[in-house]
Amino acid sequence: MRFALVGLALCLGSAAAPQQVADSVAPEASGTGVFADLPAGLAASAEAKAQGRPVAADNWMVAAANPHAVQAGADVLAAGGTAADALVAVQAMLGLVEPQSSGLGGGAFLVWYDADTGAVTTLDGRETAPLAATPQLFQDETGAPLKFFDAVVGGRSVGTPGTPALMADVHARWGNRDWASLLAPAQQLAQDGFAVSPRLAKLVAGDAARLATSPDTAAYFLPEGAPITVGTTLRNPAYAQTLAAFADQGAAAFYGGAVGKQIIAAVQGATGNPGVLSEMDLAIYQVKERAAVCAPYRGHEVCGMGPPSSGAVAVGQILGLLEGSDLSAGPLDPEVRRLMGDAGRLAFADRGRYLADSDYMPVPVQGLLEPGYLAERATLLGGAAALTEVAPGNPAFDHALNRADDASIELPSTSHVSIVDSYGNVASMTTTIENGFGSRVMAGGFLLNNELTDFSFRSHRDGVPIANRVEPGKRPRSSMAPTIVLKDGKPVLAVGSPGGSRIIGYVAQAIIGVIDWGLDVQQAVMVPHAVNRFGTYDLEAGTQAETLAAPLEAMGFEVNARGLTSGLHLIAIGDDLQGGADPRREGIAYGE
Ligand code: GLY
Repeated sequence: MRFALVGLALCLGSAAAPQQVADSVAPEASGTGVFADLPAGLAASAEAKAQGRPVAADNWMVAAANPHAVQAGADVLAAGGTAADALVAVQAMLGLVEPQSSGLGGGAFLVWYDADTGAVTTLDGRETAPLAATPQLFQDETGAPLKFFDAVVGGRSVGTPGTPALMADVHARWGNRDWASLLAPAQQLAQDGFAVSPRLAKLVAGDAARLATSPDTAAYFLPEGAPITVGTTLRNPAYAQTLAAFADQGAAAFYGGAVGKQIIAAVQGATGNPGVLSEMDLAIYQVKERAAVCAPYRGHEVCGMGPPSSGAVAVGQILGLLEGSDLSAGPLDPEVRRLMGDAGRLAFADRGRYLADSDYMPVPVQGLLEPGYLAERATLLGGAAALTEVAPGNPAFDHALNRADDASIELPSTSHVSIVDSYGNVASMTTTIENGFGSRVMAGGFLLNNELTDFSFRSHRDGVPIANRVEPGKRPRSSMAPTIVLKDGKPVLAVGSPGGSRIIGYVAQAIIGVIDWGLDVQQAVMVPHAVNRFGTYDLEAGTQAETLAAPLEAMGFEVNARGLTSGLHLIAIGDDLQGGADPRREGIAYGE
């Protein structure tokens, strides 16, 4: 590892040893049980995670949310495939075994470090609003915002899927394996069936009423009316057929072909809440290459996804606001948490005012990350108590910035994949269908996204437009923060997480964990979460983060203990590769 370790006792505070931290985040049923037939190497990775150790490798590594997906990626990398090839195999498998989080019906962002050129680039495979959508999409006849799940469930919330186009694009740019061979393992497993994991079974049981609203979805997840249970073999022939078409026709199967027609029929035919997505929306869909947004932090460059994601800007702002502060007392120190919490609030205030799809609304990315702007905003952190008032700042910009504050509802969801290949390429991809199980509408054996609910339901406030309002063809603002950290121009860390708008706090903390607290990547993902977006300080229930409640309350924060289910997947790149997988989910890191 390239990062200097500053001592574990220091970074975890005097109260926590590494194993105590591992225990305190209560690993979700992520052991080998239903994954028992996986190769020994992957079982060893699960064991390392359970013991709070990082996984090490010399040549390549993949970290993702499900062992089947990791295996699919590992097989590609072991055979000489690139990180782009492995991403395709991993995403195809995630869509089968972790269907509630991401898949062919969703969208994704990729940050890519190219070993040949040393360039970092980003690909935007975000969903788009249908051409027939209006700013009133999520308002009732009086102009009042719909209730969140009234908007989510059904066809109305479905945006044009971008993930199939992104998969084809990364393969065309950087792949060296045969396209169909990358989809074949998921196709085979869809035919043969896989054992339902504890996490999938639990989430299906918890969402049964919504899953029951769509006939195909109910038939798959609630066969004979009852939720699928742990260990049951689940077959998905429709998904196998979709992958066969994808293998044969490439992305054209979706954007003009038979799978696309299935998507449109499902959206427009959704009972009770049909959507307006059309074949034209699919036909004109494009993945967009965008410049990476990079921010400096303690001698590193933290590079990620710019608009339409708020991820890189908000993570970069949080780190920039903290650059002048000493965080070495660690994650259980109340003063460190005061600084991190109010830095989060300041970043979220700017995010709510300024961040949206920059193809529709000028976004002051440079102004928001400008060191002088952040240094001035950081003076607000100079007191000893929680900020009593947090308002957006006035970043430098060459456009008028008359915007109203956003009104989006963002719940946890999504999946993150980090990959380093044997050529030195690095991929950091966060992928989503938005809410768990997306719109609950299925087509072709996969769930369709509800990404459009990432737009602000309100379009204006007092006559002033909200940047992230719905507009035809626009991409909803995201919080996804796939990130590659560089030092001296070389990648040293790939990181990202699911978790709705808490993604930003999870990713910022993981980076601080590695850089400031000197943690290895597994320790960094195990640090109990404390996330502050809008003022309420969320502390991870059942962990040592709860010890922060009294001191933070005394500083003036409103605190709230709750589950904070990140899904961080980190790879540190140095003399060797070290991988860490979040104990709150079922993923592992594996490499050779
Ligand atoms: N739907 C999750 C995100 O894009 O932030």
